[in-house]
Amino acid sequence: MTDPARRLAPIVRLAPAKLNLTLAVVGRRPDGFHTLHSVMVPLRLSDRLSLSPAPDGQDSLYVGGFDTGRPADNLVLRAIAVTRQAARAGWFGQPRLPPPLAARLEKRIPVAAGLGGGSSDAAAAIDGALEAWGADLPAGDRLALAARLGSDVPFFLAGGAAAIEGRGETVTPLPGLEGDPPGVLLVTPAVGVSTPDVFALFASGIRPGRHGAAAATSRHLAAEMQAGLDGGALVARAGVLASANDLVPATTRFVPELVPFRRALGRLLGRPIGQSGSGPTCWVLYPSAQDAAIAAALVREAVQAGRLPVVGAGEPFVEATTVEARG
Ligand code: C5P
Repeated sequence: MTDPARRLAPIVRLAPAKLNLTLAVVGRRPDGFHTLHSVMVPLRLSDRLSLSPAPDGQDSLYVGGFDTGRPADNLVLRAIAVTRQAARAGWFGQPRLPPPLAARLEKRIPVAAGLGGGSSDAAAAIDGALEAWGADLPAGDRLALAARLGSDVPFFLAGGAAAIEGRGETVTPLPGLEGDPPGVLLVTPAVGVSTPDVFALFASGIRPGRHGAAAATSRHLAAEMQAGLDGGALVARAGVLASANDLVPATTRFVPELVPFRRALGRLLGRPIGQSGSGPTCWVLYPSAQDAAIAAALVREAVQAGRLPVVGAGEPFVEATTVEARG
């Protein structure tokens, strides 16, 4: 076996974005976290993480692409640090810590957008660091590390479509979609939304309109996917799915401009507009990647022509992608 510290080629991991097709808040735990039921799928849109041995004795992180604030706050460095501690016992049979890593992160997923980019980067870092060190951890230990880093991290560590419960740590893998992967148009207004703020507002009394409806839709979708759902059938359910996110009222309380924005987007595209996670990303489902690309061009044109209301600091992020969960 090669000494991992002497490995030349970096370890490269794609860290996909996620979409919440449904998001039901079903309760609250004594520690303040909310218990959820959500059907989540990975998208083709991904960040790219590469890890190599660090030349100067400590972990480092370079971030390119979308601005993520201070790299020291980035979950990638925390993920590498906690994975190192957990892996030390099994590393190469030696009584020392696995060596430092130089991480390079290309951000293509908008930040604080409801797409799980930071959590996905963290899952990729756990997995990539273990490979870079030639170390291994039992699946249960990896999951525990992931859950410590954030509620969405276990989903990304598992990979693939899943129903998530608890605060996110209970991940039930679902079979991927049959047939062609559905196209997804993402439109992310240029305003960051803080997940803790949205949950806090939810907890302070903002309740979903039809209590329990999102949970019923979410469980029903999970059962349908479990039985083998076709991509086309998923797209046909977009209307009911778009109304199955319990966090929407809290998100729009923070960013009221999202209401006219979503309405205008819906009128422009003639399709249901969903919200991923705590937002502000809007999703629109299409039968194919090509249909989503045509819709993206239409939205960009409308933005240029001033036919969509401005939300936040400037133009929205507009991206056509696909669901990456194959049957
Ligand atoms: O786990 P994560 O760091 O992503 O969560 C950010 C915050 O969002 C938590 O501190 C909590 O306030 C809120 N949250 C919640 N219930 C969840 C997930 C997150 O209340 N299931």
